[in-house]
Amino acid sequence: MAILVVGGKRTELFADAMRQAAPALDIRSHPDTGRPEDIEYVLAWHPPAGLMASLPRLRLIVSVGAGVDHILRDPELPDVPVVRFVDPDLTDRMTAYVAMSVLTHHRRMTEFRTQQDSRTWHYLPEAAARDVRVGIMGLGVLGTAAAATLRGLGYTVRGWSRTAKTVPDVACFAGEAGLDDFLAGTDILVVLLPLTADTRGLIDARLLSRLSRSGRDPGLPGPVLINAGRGGLQVETDILAALDAGTLYAASLDVFETEPLPDTSRLWQHPRVVITPHCAAESNPVAIGRYAIAAFAAHRDGRPLANLVDPRRGY
Ligand code: NDP
Ligand code: OXD
Repeated sequence: MAILVVGGKRTELFADAMRQAAPALDIRSHPDTGRPEDIEYVLAWHPPAGLMASLPRLRLIVSVGAGVDHILRDPELPDVPVVRFVDPDLTDRMTAYVAMSVLTHHRRMTEFRTQQDSRTWHYLPEAAARDVRVGIMGLGVLGTAAAATLRGLGYTVRGWSRTAKTVPDVACFAGEAGLDDFLAGTDILVVLLPLTADTRGLIDARLLSRLSRSGRDPGLPGPVLINAGRGGLQVETDILAALDAGTLYAASLDVFETEPLPDTSRLWQHPRVVITPHCAAESNPVAIGRYAIAAFAAHRDGRPLANLVDPRRGY
């Protein structure tokens, strides 16, 4: 079996990790594909549209990321199984990003940073963690792990998912029917959703206007948005307008409609917006190499595949 690695700038990192883990395998680095009919397995991050359709004996695709929108968006994608990356190190990194971001805004660190720039010693009130309600959109692998850590830090946590869930110490809401109640009791909104036809553009002016505007005295001056899911979930002009209007107090954004975030975006300059370059949770090359090889071997041997994507749901 030949394996093709398509990982953009990180192609050689992933391919080398796989070669070290399994020196006997025929591992090729895109675009040096060789004969397309040799390729049965692909490890992919943002593969070019049409590439998979050009591999006539393709049997399985493994996604470098936990998200698979970068694979499913290909209009010519053949009907082969797609496995997404689920990994404890990636989950821990995302949990750390979420905890850091919630603490940053709850403890008003962006304002203290601005004050520091002018050597200003000025007290700002902060709410008790139990009085801050963090609402997590997406109660999957990453959302449930983040929820447990936020509970450990003392926050009041609620979550929203497509289907009904039970998560210890987390108030759970589901679907369109549960969205209003979920948002009405959320002070800090954490977005850990996949990008699908149903979720694209969900974080818009209407949704932001439904966040809670009560019950945070003293402390948080307004609702906060943290998005580490995908940039396509958010409408950036609406986020900026809400920040300008004061209906949104602050934001931490790791993902953007266009990546890299264009120089011209006003988000760069906002004093209460924290921008990171889509690095909330990196896929470790050694872990992804081992994971892909294990998935390819399971498929070859006819064993069940873990973390299979449902293409109809889009995640
Ligand atoms: P999962 O598939 O485990 O969880 C997805 C969650 O989203 C589920 O709870 C699911 O509901 C919910 N969901 C999906 N569609 C909808 C909808 N239409 N309405 C309400 N809820 C919905 O994914 P992960 O937790 O592993 O990852 C989530 C996303 O995080 C990835 O898809 C990726 O885009 C992003 N990510 C970003 C990274 C970064 O560095 N910024 C790193 C890794 C991932 P249900 O439980 O009912 O199925
Ligand atoms: C992912 C990502 O989906 O890094 O894993 O964005």
